[in-house]
Amino acid sequence: MSYLETTRNVYRDAALTPDVGLCCTTNPIWELPGLKIPKIMQEMNYGCGSTVNPRDLSNNPKILYVGVGGGMELLQFAYFSRKNDGVIGVDSVDEMLEASRKNFKEAELQNNWFKSDFVELKKGDALDLPVADNSIDVAAQNCLFNIFKTEDLKKALEEMYRVLKPHGRLVMSDPSCEQPMNDELRNDERLRALCLSGSLPLKEYIKALTDVGFGTIEIRARKPYRILDPKHYPTEELIYIESVEVAAIKDPMPEDGPCVFTGKAAIYYGDEDYLDDKKGHVLLQNQPLAVCDKTAAALADLNRNDIFISESTFHYDGGGCC
Ligand SMILES: C[S@@+](CC[C@H](N)C(=O)[O-])C[C@H]1O[C@@H](n2cnc3c(N)ncnc32)[C@H](O)[C@@H]1O
Repeated sequence: MSYLETTRNVYRDAALTPDVGLCCTTNPIWELPGLKIPKIMQEMNYGCGSTVNPRDLSNNPKILYVGVGGGMELLQFAYFSRKNDGVIGVDSVDEMLEASRKNFKEAELQNNWFKSDFVELKKGDALDLPVADNSIDVAAQNCLFNIFKTEDLKKALEEMYRVLKPHGRLVMSDPSCEQPMNDELRNDERLRALCLSGSLPLKEYIKALTDVGFGTIEIRARKPYRILDPKHYPTEELIYIESVEVAAIKDPMPEDGPCVFTGKAAIYYGDEDYLDDKKGHVLLQNQPLAVCDKTAAALADLNRNDIFISESTFHYDGGGCC
């Protein structure tokens, strides 16, 4: 059996018998006026963060969500789009599609604004999406892509890139891990399927995105997620796993490389009203300007004593250079 099949089996079981401790975090879930999330959806929250951000959802976007789970985030997306088939949900596990379909019926009873028809569920694989090229404004996945091994991750990202319109965005939430994991952990198909042993260091995760062509990357959140300890897992050292929320935008790749926003800001504190680096960045006196890592490095290279560059907060929420 391949690890992809093991993964499907794990989620078949998780669809038939909801498993509250699987994947999800105890982070508070979105509370929005008039939005009631059925208990069963909360119990089937198999994600590790949020991919739903109102900032991505203006102008009536066509939304794709891959790996539906219990349907909670699709309901949250539908809260913003509120039209028939506004959100496409794709999953490769029949039982998960069936469970989410049932959960949407429950959501209808609890939310008078919601109709199951707002979500179009499709059987399909993240590695071969049943979705047309250039047809999606916002694509999302939560806690699925970290399971994929290198070549499959590449395929899954290429598929997302293919279906997105120019300037469309892929919003993702996944575990990440800066420590090396041993082969026993890496090759344990069940731990991988449970989102515990497939995660990459953040830099590699970002590189996988820029390698398929996404020109802009936003690191929106980075939080503690899990510990793999020697008593419970096949490891000699304690391994700390985080979860990250990342958006990858299908902007053209700049000639000098991708713009990766990790939450850095530059502040000019010289004597003039502003500083213009003549490369498209104007820093107003004592006003922070969010900068991508590339611009932060270029400003640092100026070796001036009147520009402060902050560390990455890993909490970029829009605006700034590029
Ligand atoms: C960890 S769960 C995450 C569910 C949901 N995103 C959430 O946040 O609750 C992974 C989901 O991906 C689905 N899945 C597993 N392998 C898949 C594949 N190759 N293609 C599409 N979906 C897949 C599973 O059935 C499950 O719904």
